[in-house]
Amino acid sequence: MRLVELKLQNFRNFAAQRLELKPRLNFFVGANGQGKTNLLEAVYLLSRGESFRPADREHLIRNVFEGQSEIGIAHRSNLNQAKLIATLDGELGRHLLISQIQDSRHTVELDGKRTGFSTLASQVPVILFSPESLAAIKDGPDSRRRLVDEGLLTRGRVGAQLLRDYSRTLRARNALLKQLMEGDSRASTRDSLASLTSIFLVLGAHLASERTKLLRDLLPFWREAFASITQRTPETLGLRYEVSGQESLDWTEAQIFDVMSHRQQELAAREVSAGSSLVGPHKHDLKFLVAENDSRFFASQGQQRALILAFKIAQINLHRTTVGRYPILLLDDVMSELDADKRSRLMQFLEGISAQVLLSATDLTWSQEFAPQDNAVFSVNAGEVRCVESRDRLDQMRSTTLGLRADVN
Ligand SMILES: Nc1ncnc2c1ncn2[C@@H]1O[C@H](COP(=O)(O)OP(=O)(O)OP(=O)(O)O)[C@@H](O)[C@H]1O
Ligand SMILES: [Mg+2]
Repeated sequence: MRLVELKLQNFRNFAAQRLELKPRLNFFVGANGQGKTNLLEAVYLLSRGESFRPADREHLIRNVFEGQSEIGIAHRSNLNQAKLIATLDGELGRHLLISQIQDSRHTVELDGKRTGFSTLASQVPVILFSPESLAAIKDGPDSRRRLVDEGLLTRGRVGAQLLRDYSRTLRARNALLKQLMEGDSRASTRDSLASLTSIFLVLGAHLASERTKLLRDLLPFWREAFASITQRTPETLGLRYEVSGQESLDWTEAQIFDVMSHRQQELAAREVSAGSSLVGPHKHDLKFLVAENDSRFFASQGQQRALILAFKIAQINLHRTTVGRYPILLLDDVMSELDADKRSRLMQFLEGISAQVLLSATDLTWSQEFAPQDNAVFSVNAGEVRCVESRDRLDQMRSTTLGLRADVN
């Protein structure tokens, strides 16, 4: 799928915006706080149903400044609905994707039919590169699990469904454990917990096994991508998936199930006193190894970013190999996080594939010109997006604006 047109209504700082996207590289350029991330967030939201940054749904709806009260306090009020409309080009023709956020509800329609997000993530797959995702090695196991789960979501409906089922079961199980922690002593609560625990362990082992399968598939792509970004030999790179601290990348689903069940029995009493599940894929860890060392303690920050960048590129290449098409790529402000060498290798990669790319940056001084028929530069300014066609044109506009400012002063 490729985005052809995007309309934003009352979304974040966009009142009403329509833009036509080009099939290859789309650069969104503007100063801080103008709406670049908001725009990429809109595309991500259309595919995933949730933002990649912490936000309540109501924060997604445009806030309107309504002047000041008598005592000088600024009044802001939320409009009650935001709407995102995307026209997409797919293998079987055009599609219309409409997403509405109203109060705390979010609904999506694809070609006029209500659609669940577990279907959409693989039908309109997007892969996001953000400064936060590049920091996943040092950030903590949650960010690293998200990296692998992103692969499961975009790979197909089964992975997305599994993730949803697991998180629902986990929430239900945690609610029961919390009830027990708070003194609920009914036999029926214990019985419900026992039957939910069996489902939970089966789903958990299945999810962990899907993750390890995906990681094994990604490994050769990751090594290759790392070699091309850093021009170094990648043999020493390894991935480690940990179930209760044990390396389990090559375990079967049955082995994972046995270890999880055993550990769950050991921790049963502690789960009740904690009021939450202490075993399961939400606790598993993914480690990126360099020469068998955990890169978190071994690699420099720049090297850690290169490892994650390579991991994302591996996901894109694996997706292309298994699904036959490229996902839509969203790169939010990542070029400023990379040194000149990695930046130009990443650009070479993006130029060399046929994926549609939406890339935000505060300037394009690092970039060359691209042919205007397939690529475009947009300026983003106070919630307004304008196509300026080329990088040169952007530079001209900038100098004119700066000239005007100088006159005013
Ligand atoms: N619900 C909302 N209503 C109105 N404006 C909003 C809303 N949510 C966020 N904004 C505004 O959007 C702007 C931030 O936009 P965004 O994060 O896209 O900036 P950016 O162009 O990516 O900047 P940077 O280069 O710093 O990353 C802020 O000015 C913020 O006040
Ligand atoms: Mg931003």
